[in-house]
Amino acid sequence: MKVGVLTGGGDAPGLNSAIRAVVKKCEQYGFEAVGIKRGWAGLLELDTTELKYEEIKNIIHRGGTFLKTSRTNPLKISGGIEKASQNFKKLGLDALIAIGGDDTLGVAAALSKAGLNVVGIPKTIDHDVPETEFTIGFDTAVNQAMRLIENLQDTAASHDRVFVVEIMGRHAGWIALYSGIAAGADLILIPEEPFSIKELTDFVKKKIEKEGGQSVVIVVAEGAVITDYKGPIKKDATIDQFGHVRLGGIGEFLAKEIQEATGAETRSAVPAHAIRGGPPTALDRFVSTRLGLAAVDLIKEGKFGYMVALRCGEIVSVPLAKATGRTKTVSKELYEEAKVFFK
Ligand code: F6P
Repeated sequence: MKVGVLTGGGDAPGLNSAIRAVVKKCEQYGFEAVGIKRGWAGLLELDTTELKYEEIKNIIHRGGTFLKTSRTNPLKISGGIEKASQNFKKLGLDALIAIGGDDTLGVAAALSKAGLNVVGIPKTIDHDVPETEFTIGFDTAVNQAMRLIENLQDTAASHDRVFVVEIMGRHAGWIALYSGIAAGADLILIPEEPFSIKELTDFVKKKIEKEGGQSVVIVVAEGAVITDYKGPIKKDATIDQFGHVRLGGIGEFLAKEIQEATGAETRSAVPAHAIRGGPPTALDRFVSTRLGLAAVDLIKEGKFGYMVALRCGEIVSVPLAKATGRTKTVSKELYEEAKVFFK
C-alpha cells in the first residue's frame, strides 16, 4: 500500500506532528509513505519526497510544514482534477491524506467524488472547519495571540492609550474571541457580529469616562464587518485561486476613527502571520498526532472520502462532503456570553 500525504492552504503549527504520525503509522502497517510537496501543486507537478520515520521523527516541535504548502486549486485549473487523478495513478498511490482547511478539503472531496481514495485531516488556525472541535494550529495561534494582546495591554496602560489589535480570521472570529477573552480584552469584534463605527467610538468614550484612564484594548478580527463601511478592508486587490481577497487594515482604520471621535491617543497593532508560526502547543502536537494516526487507520479499513475529527475527546470520522463547503462560525449565544465583559 502506497500512501501520499500533503499539506495545503495556510501553514499551521502542528502540521509536522500530524505528518510524523502518518509516517509512523504507515511504517507500523508496512505501508510506504510519500510526501507530496507544496499542497495540490505537488500532485499536479509530481513533486514528491520519500518519507522515512527515522529521518523525520524529530520534527514534532517545529512550526510550519516541512512538506511546504500552497494555495493551488486544481478545481480552478483547466483539466486540474483529471491531471490530479492521472498523477495519483502515475505515482502508484493507493490512498492520499490531505491535511488542510475548507479549501484543501474541498478539493479532497472533489477528488473523492472523482473516485480517488482520499482521507482528510482538518487544519486551520481559523478553526472554521465544521464537524470537528479541533483544527490543527488553532490552539497555538490563540496562545500566541493572547500573549501579544497581553503585551499590548502593558504598553497601553503605561501610556494611557487605546490599542486596536487586528487578529487573523477571515470569516470566523474564533481566534479573536478565544485570545481576546483569555487576555481580558475590553472589546472583541468578529465577522459574525457586524458593528457600526458609532457603536465602537461610543463604547470607547464611555469606557474612558467610566474608568478615568484611556487604556482600552480592542481585539478585531481582520474580517470583521463594519455596517457603515462598504467592506471588507483589504490589503490589496489580489485574489487567490480559492477566491479569497487579502484582508488587512481594519485595525489601523478603526484606530484612526477612534482617535478622531474620542481624542484618545490610539495605536493599532497587527500580529498577522506571527501567530501562525512557531512551535506548536502540547495540545496541537498531541491531537494532530492522534488525527494523523487515525487517518492511516481509515485507510487500513478502506474507509475513504472521510475526514478524521475530534468530538468530545474521541477521534471520529465524518464524510468529507459534510465537512466542506461551509464555515463553522461563532454562534450568537457564544458571543452573547462574552459580551458581559464588554462594558
Ligand atoms: O490560514 C488562514 C489564514 O491565516 C487566515 O486567517 C488569513 O486571512 C489568511 O490565512 C492569510 O493568508 P496568507 O498566508 O495567504 O496571507
